[in-house]
Amino acid sequence: MGYALGARVSGVDLSRPLDTDTVQQIKSAWTRHLVLVFPEQHLDPETLIAFTRHFGELDNYETQPFNRHPEHDEVMLLSNRPVNGKLPAGAYNGQNWHTDLSYTPRPAKATLVYCIQKPSVGGDTMFASMYAAYEALSPKMQAFLDDLEGVNDVSLISARRDPAILEAFKRLNPPVIHPAVRIHPESGKPALYVNDRVRTFVGMSDAESKPIIKFLCEHSQQPRFVYRHRWSVRDLVLWDNRCLTHLAVGDYDPSEIRHMIRTSTMGDYFGRFENPRSAETANTSAAATSTEVAQAASMLHD
Ligand code: SIN
Repeated sequence: MGYALGARVSGVDLSRPLDTDTVQQIKSAWTRHLVLVFPEQHLDPETLIAFTRHFGELDNYETQPFNRHPEHDEVMLLSNRPVNGKLPAGAYNGQNWHTDLSYTPRPAKATLVYCIQKPSVGGDTMFASMYAAYEALSPKMQAFLDDLEGVNDVSLISARRDPAILEAFKRLNPPVIHPAVRIHPESGKPALYVNDRVRTFVGMSDAESKPIIKFLCEHSQQPRFVYRHRWSVRDLVLWDNRCLTHLAVGDYDPSEIRHMIRTSTMGDYFGRFENPRSAETANTSAAATSTEVAQAASMLHD
């Protein structure tokens, strides 16, 4: 569907159990094209969860409990449809270039989004190939980046947030360090891992880091590396967070409903906390059962 990435998959009904050969074909198309679009699917939270299981262990969104579907912890609401008269916390998620859950020690592998309702105009999602972005850099720049580590900071998620939710987000997700370049575990290819949510580089000052981060973000967001998905209702889009960044384009009338459901699988890659003591309070399963998480979740539903 795009020069650098993206393919449409037809002839498969994702609401039904899939045979091993079909799953294998989907996985190999996914590795090749990074973003797969399955039009005209008829999914609900249960069937979306069942399909997601083919791509790994489901994330139950302990790191952002306020965005969960009320009945399914593994499903996130990306929706501005009011719940009890209130805008859901995930209404305007992802409106800067990012890769899912990079602000956690275990960022997402696959993300799947199913479109239930869309605005009449806009509300697209853009995807950039970080393989292509890395490959287009000079060998000197590549070598420089190969040794760098970025500090991924949840406070850099997009600005349209309730300040109380942002505070809860930060308490649950202290800054995490990941390499600036990661090797994809399946393709073996290097991909840039720097996006709008990287605050600084380890061992460098902010003044030194910021211009490089700005350059890398602008570089990777060039149209030649990007596929822009114009949603249709009943599209299911599957993408790979290990070699892509994406952006939910905030170019629609907020009085119109954009309603999507999302699942993700846990990546097998581990980062480390910027402050090693953060581990005590961070998004571990122990923390997930703490009152702090319960309080954060209740903000949405009170
Ligand atoms: C996200 O998962 O970052 C949001 C994607 C979207 O709503 O288009």
